[in-house]
Amino acid sequence: MDDRELAAQLRCPTGTDAAEVAGRMNEANRALNHKCIDLLQLAAAERILEIGPANGAFVADIVGAAEGIAYTGLDWSADMVAEAQRNNSRAVSSGAARFLRGSSDNLPFAEDHFDKILTIHTLYFWENPARHLAEIRRTLKPHGRFCIAFGDREFMQQLPFVPFGFRLYHDTAGQQLLRESGFEVLDCQQHRETDVSNTGEVVEKLINIALCQPE
Ligand SMILES: C[S@@+](CC[C@H](N)C(=O)[O-])C[C@H]1O[C@@H](n2cnc3c(N)ncnc32)[C@H](O)[C@@H]1O
Repeated sequence: MDDRELAAQLRCPTGTDAAEVAGRMNEANRALNHKCIDLLQLAAAERILEIGPANGAFVADIVGAAEGIAYTGLDWSADMVAEAQRNNSRAVSSGAARFLRGSSDNLPFAEDHFDKILTIHTLYFWENPARHLAEIRRTLKPHGRFCIAFGDREFMQQLPFVPFGFRLYHDTAGQQLLRESGFEVLDCQQHRETDVSNTGEVVEKLINIALCQPE
């Protein structure tokens, strides 16, 4: 797969390459996903929304974090929604998890619906991030928490697939975007990791993890 194709798959995993790309993302992003889940301090009976869970590799960690968690995963890739449903069939049939196809700039949920919302490695693909963040804020409860993780511009711009449609942010630009969208940034951590990237090469990763609440 060339860099342009890989970029398109990371944006929206589709077709025969989708399962392989998702498997690689799961390996590359495992530690980061676990860190974000921990930061959210999930509690019993909370409603959780994840935007862009891909094949749902970490859903068991979310629904297993506390009693009675109700998880919704929303992804704009139909193939990822189908694979996430297959990978989490037990959680789906018990009613603990559901997967929907959609985009976070038009969330099919009522106001103040979720206790916690998370999204990891998705911001780059949002043409109008303010519109996505406004929807996230609308559907998050007033005392809810939102966790967003994105690779820092400095790190991301070294990756060969990034010129093909990724929008990049420094931590300060990301935080400013969040504030302008009505979030208070409670914490912004820098997650550093030496690990394989989606190209299979070992890289020094620098990922920003912002934990927010509605202002
Ligand atoms: C690069 S992958 C990251 C997957 C996973 N979160 C991880 O940490 O490995 C991006 C995923 O988010 C989905 N996605 C990106 N932006 C989205 C949005 N605004 N609404 C719904 N799905 C989105 C894509 O289809 C893809 O499955």
